Amino acid sequence: MTALTAKPARTASLRRIAVTALIVLAMIALALLVRSFTGASDYRTPAWAIQIHLATVIPALPLGAWLLWRPVKGDAAHRIGGRVWALLMIVTAIDSFWIRTITGGIGPIHLFSVLTLVQLPRAIWFARNGQIDRHLKTMRGVYFGLLAAGFFAMAPGRTLWALLFG
Ligand code: HEM
Repeated sequence: MTALTAKPARTASLRRIAVTALIVLAMIALALLVRSFTGASDYRTPAWAIQIHLATVIPALPLGAWLLWRPVKGDAAHRIGGRVWALLMIVTAIDSFWIRTITGGIGPIHLFSVLTLVQLPRAIWFARNGQIDRHLKTMRGVYFGLLAAGFFAMAPGRTLWALLFG
């Protein structure tokens, strides 16, 4: 019985990996394309882009922690909170394409944004299809990305470091 069900399950997960890899590659290609159009060295990050970025990541930090560590999942509070959190993360990721302070163009940190835009819909899809384990794992990954990006945003030389300690 196990041997009979193992093969289709493996094929399905291979297909999912292939689709994810394809989506990531398409997003990288899109980012490179955008870069080729926006590579002007005189580009200046507009203040609103950083303001929106901070306005979305600051509430996303406690809200995400609450959603992940709250023992009750799937109730109305989780679903409403989850929608708000997903929206905050999507706005964070999209808005980040207007922030180009480090390399002056679309740079490697923007891959984080692409990953967020790929992983969030996947996580929502998993929840809708009853794959709660994968939903939880994927959302944990996106939240870890938020924490990591926040941590590195404090690095010397970056805007937050100058703002807080400069
Ligand atoms: C607590 C979380 C976060 C904080 C405090 C934060 C803060 C910042 C700040 C202040 C900047 C402005 C430019 C600079 O680096 O000096 C920035 C840039 C950026 N952030 Fe975030 N961020 C966070 C989360 C995220 C997340 C979750 C993503 C992706 C989904 C992201 C993607 C980016 C990108 C792509 C840039 C532009 C980097 C560049 O200039 O090339 N950030 N972030």
